[in-house]
Amino acid sequence: MGYVDAVLDAPLQRLAGRFVPAPLPPAGTFDGQNVLIVGATSGLGLAAAVHFAALGANVIITSRVASRADAAKHHIEEAAGPSRKGAVSCLELDLERYDSCTSFMQKLKSSLPGPQALDVAIVNGGIVNSHWEESPHGWEKTIQINTIGSTLMGLLLLGWMRGARALRQSPAHLVFLSSREHLDPDLDELSKWSQKEDGILRQVCSKENWPSHWWDAEPNYANSKLLLMYTIEEISRLAQGPDGDPLVIVNSVCPGMVKTEIGANIASRSWFHALVTYFVLFVTAKTADSGARILVQAAQKPKENHVSRCP
Ligand SMILES: NC(=O)c1ccc[n+]([C@@H]2O[C@H](COP(=O)([O-])OP(=O)(O)OC[C@H]3O[C@@H](n4cnc5c(N)ncnc54)[C@H](OP(=O)(O)O)[C@@H]3O)[C@@H](O)[C@H]2O)c1
Repeated sequence: MGYVDAVLDAPLQRLAGRFVPAPLPPAGTFDGQNVLIVGATSGLGLAAAVHFAALGANVIITSRVASRADAAKHHIEEAAGPSRKGAVSCLELDLERYDSCTSFMQKLKSSLPGPQALDVAIVNGGIVNSHWEESPHGWEKTIQINTIGSTLMGLLLLGWMRGARALRQSPAHLVFLSSREHLDPDLDELSKWSQKEDGILRQVCSKENWPSHWWDAEPNYANSKLLLMYTIEEISRLAQGPDGDPLVIVNSVCPGMVKTEIGANIASRSWFHALVTYFVLFVTAKTADSGARILVQAAQKPKENHVSRCP
């Protein structure tokens, strides 16, 4: 790809995606299928849940807060159409805590007849944090949720789903929400940190290394998504059977810039961040409905797209 192509490619793709939504598959495509969406009370997860439910799926959504889950269930069933009442069930999950991830898995297992019944799992929940915060497990919060929690969730789901391949006609799908911003981190700095005795994860999480430039809108977000890309590679390898074919098709997908609640955290940093966020979102961001169509497409990719990256 030439320099001009490389410079123009991302903005042009963003603008095209902003005005031309990806097509949805035909009605009934997900009839009777079970689709799990981790983090589906707002933004992309919520909009994806509406699409899947409208296309016939039974949707399992997660939230940290029961009242948010109930409100999302109500919204999804209303928006998906009169025949979809009862199509959504809710489970509690906080990607910030290991015990929440493991107890969620137990509840998921008892809510379905077996692993073969889970057709699609989308690991979507994620945050942008404007200030350094420590998680209950001692890691920086963005990394804890976007990288460690999402990876743990992916591993727990894969461990359960991959054993069911022989019981299914086709492989199930495991989709992760990545971001084009995984291309942004300073690789020289990361490489230096990787030489340190306590390892790269501790360095990326340390308060001293927290990106402190005042203009930085999303400190540690790009790092969290880059590290997630590495773990998705590994999860994809674990998803392969002895013949190399995926037992579960693993994808990572970047929906481009999408207007969701995630932007509110960036905007809350200062009037400057608010102005830039609203300008950038106004010019380039798609609606959550549009962005979520890309998640629906990712959940239908054939095995040749195992471990595909940002479009
Ligand atoms: N918006 C974009 O432009 C964009 C672009 C590329 C990638 N993404 C990725 O897309 C995903 C969804 O983002 P969004 O833009 O739709 O954001 P959003 O509107 O803020 O939604 C985030 C969702 O994640 C859940 N969540 C937050 N913290 C969680 C935690 N600790 N454990 C479990 N779930 C948690 C929230 O559910 P509860 O609060 O109810 O628990 C909510 O449903 C993220 O992974 C994000 O990085 C977004």
